[in-house]
Amino acid sequence: MKSVKNLKNIRGKRVIVRADFNVPIEGGKILDATRIRVAVPTIDMLRKKGAKVILISHIGRDPQESLAPVARALKKYIPVTFIPDLVGAKATAAVRAMKNGDVILLENLRGNAGEKAGGKKFARSLAALGDIYVNEAFPVSHRTDASIFLLPKLLPAYAGLQLEREVKELSRVLKPKRPFLFILGGAKIETKLPILKRYLKEADHVFIGGVLANNFFKAQGHEIGVSKYDEGASVTALLKNKKLIIPHTVVVDRAGKKKTVATAEVKKTDSILDIGFPSIEMLAPIIRSAKLILWNGPMGYYEGGYVEGTEELLALLSHASGDTIIGGGDTAVLVERKKLAKKFTFVSTGGGATLDFLAKGTLAGIQALK
Ligand code: ADP
Ligand code: 3PG
Ligand code: MG
Repeated sequence: MKSVKNLKNIRGKRVIVRADFNVPIEGGKILDATRIRVAVPTIDMLRKKGAKVILISHIGRDPQESLAPVARALKKYIPVTFIPDLVGAKATAAVRAMKNGDVILLENLRGNAGEKAGGKKFARSLAALGDIYVNEAFPVSHRTDASIFLLPKLLPAYAGLQLEREVKELSRVLKPKRPFLFILGGAKIETKLPILKRYLKEADHVFIGGVLANNFFKAQGHEIGVSKYDEGASVTALLKNKKLIIPHTVVVDRAGKKKTVATAEVKKTDSILDIGFPSIEMLAPIIRSAKLILWNGPMGYYEGGYVEGTEELLALLSHASGDTIIGGGDTAVLVERKKLAKKFTFVSTGGGATLDFLAKGTLAGIQALK
């Protein structure tokens, strides 16, 4: 991968920066601007070198969704003009009118069906807008979308500063220091099974929480009541793995009341919504001795107030002396919200992309840069 740092003599050059401004928005309000903030150093460096910076991104999954709120948020960091067009006449004219050091943001890439379809024609019309391509969109680099997978093949292509950082920091996990503890929670078991299987080989200990744990309790033969679990994913074959640490206490909703119980005591009408405090506490000595810890996925339904397991884990991890790497959309947002990001070695901005990178060691968009 060539680094954007090494770009020289770019005064007056049109540099297309593919960012991931897919931030959570509610009623026009940005709930977490981390993904905007992390792209700023690359953009700033390019504009200060006199390049004309053309920002492109997707937002959400609805092609009608606009990047206008992102442009407003971005203005807090750099002067940027929002162009409500993508590859049409307005965008072309706006690019032509740019002066050295200007920054524009074009409209949602997914507004054009060619983006998700990996359309060659669409990729060519994007390429026509610029001279150089920079991928600063790690969180979407697992996709083969046109702007990620095709565009870098049509222009001289470089890796953005944050993308480089993600690759460097997450690569610590690919060649781990030992003892290596992997903590996996959250939901969406189908997206987590590949990394679970990989790290049951690579890590020294694997602790299971979140909805994922319910599958394990069921496989152990316990009652899980009305708890969420993934019927399609069988984990029975994994149970005999000695590295696996399955919690023995959980917090359930029992007739509207929170109750911490042993996994063997869950009733038919209970809903398991968190890992019990004693089970998280049991992790303390392992956390203390670990040289590397990777954590993905909340321990419980924290949006609904079942926060104790996750918060206790956060507290233990924030005092760990080994390297601590956090991955996953919800997990990273949680860490930001608690203002604990500085306590960790690295907090990845990716969700699915981070899990994919950790499972495979590369991503489609990274391969396309090479
Ligand atoms: P990440 O984005 O960090 O990879 P996921 O998206 O896989 O994490 O999972 C996060 C979601 O899992 C959160 O919405 C959280 O409330 C939910 N969750 C975790 N444990 C439970 C549980 N026991 N019951 C219901 N929801 C849970
Ligand atoms: C993300 O938020 O994970 C990325 O922006 C990718 O979005 P997608 O899952 O809609 O492709
Ligand atoms: Mg998530």
